[in-house]
Amino acid sequence: MTDIFDLAGRRVVLGLSGGIACYKSCELVRLLVKAGAEARVVMTAGAARFITPDTLQALSGHPVATEIWDAREPNGMPHINLTRGADAVLVAPASADFIARLAQGRSEDLLSLTCLARPWGSGNQRVPLLLAPAMNREMWSHPATRRNLAQVAADGALVLAVDSGDQACGEVGDGRMIEAAAIVEDLIAALSPKPLAGRSVLITAGPTFEAIDPVRGITNLSSGKMGFALARAAREAGANVTLVAGPVHVPTPRGVRRVDVQSAAQMYDVVLPAASANEIFIATAAVADWRPAQLSEHKIKKGGKKVAPTFELAENADILAAVAALPVPPYCVGFAAESEKLLEHARDKLRRKKLPLIVGNLGPATFGRDDNALLLVDETSATPLPADGSSLDKLSLARVLVAEIARRLAAHTRARSAT
Ligand code: CTP
Repeated sequence: MTDIFDLAGRRVVLGLSGGIACYKSCELVRLLVKAGAEARVVMTAGAARFITPDTLQALSGHPVATEIWDAREPNGMPHINLTRGADAVLVAPASADFIARLAQGRSEDLLSLTCLARPWGSGNQRVPLLLAPAMNREMWSHPATRRNLAQVAADGALVLAVDSGDQACGEVGDGRMIEAAAIVEDLIAALSPKPLAGRSVLITAGPTFEAIDPVRGITNLSSGKMGFALARAAREAGANVTLVAGPVHVPTPRGVRRVDVQSAAQMYDVVLPAASANEIFIATAAVADWRPAQLSEHKIKKGGKKVAPTFELAENADILAAVAALPVPPYCVGFAAESEKLLEHARDKLRRKKLPLIVGNLGPATFGRDDNALLLVDETSATPLPADGSSLDKLSLARVLVAEIARRLAAHTRARSAT
């Protein structure tokens, strides 16, 4: 997979408060830098007991700030200098004590002072504050912590989720800090433009599996990567995303609701009742057109027979066409994976399935790969993505496509309300 510089040119102030999860912050700094960000680290005295500032200086490539009184700063004000021009302040780990200090607006250590002094209002200079909590499960569920979390969220902080599982203290429960990669994914989403804020998006992805007997079936080579990338991009754009996935081996994007299915019939049964509640439906799934007419209850045995068995096939319902035919359909986007005559076949599908937009690609060339090239086809135009006809990684393509769908949906809604 090629590196994607999602945070290129961004300056992130990374704060660490005291907790064993500080060990994960080494990886976090590495991932921030790998994504192109400049990471400026601030540590509390508690954090510096778990890992040393030297470690984070080496990983970030910048000195680590720990003291309010810092003669190295020309104006002596590190708490101001750190956040002016920054894109975000991210505190990971955010301990229970640190969150309590934030809730009260305290400022006796450099990190809480920096958070308090950051430009927090609604202007262009606003620097968002993200907190990745980390603590023991009893501390996490304590009413005082609940109160403080509600207060810091009301004051504008974005509180990231916690993981559940084994804790360093030997107990098991909620309160573990989420992994570094998940924090970076949430940070990228928080910094993304929000053209789909408040919209609901339903996406199908992957192949379907049509069972012949309990151990065999008919499927195809779709990896699901494009649909999963679109789900991530739609979530970054502010949408509430439901992803209905056939059998694939791709991790679920953060903040996306995933429903797993096997067959086309199961995908239909999940999608159809849910479709009308969404503003956008994107059908990336490579749904099997046919299924074995009979499902054998037991494994079909060779049993020494020399003659191969034959199977009758029955047609699967077209999920996309059925959604587009609903009385009040969402904005439907189809995919056309073809091996030749891309524009011709894509436009034929657009008309047959009565869609406002279809995305064509040359299927066999893209299945399983990390990059792709698309052709956006509507009734009157065909636009290559990327514009120069080259290929791009699927996540970058998905982001461009989601922005384009948001633009077309807005125009579509305007045109509808004018009639
Ligand atoms: N699709 C669907 N349900 C099906 C078949 C297809 O929702 N039973 C959707 C796919 O997710 C895709 C689009 O329809 O968005 C195009 O699918 P494709 O299989 O390429 O088109 P077909 O109509 O099956 O045409 P053909 O097999 O002739 O290419």
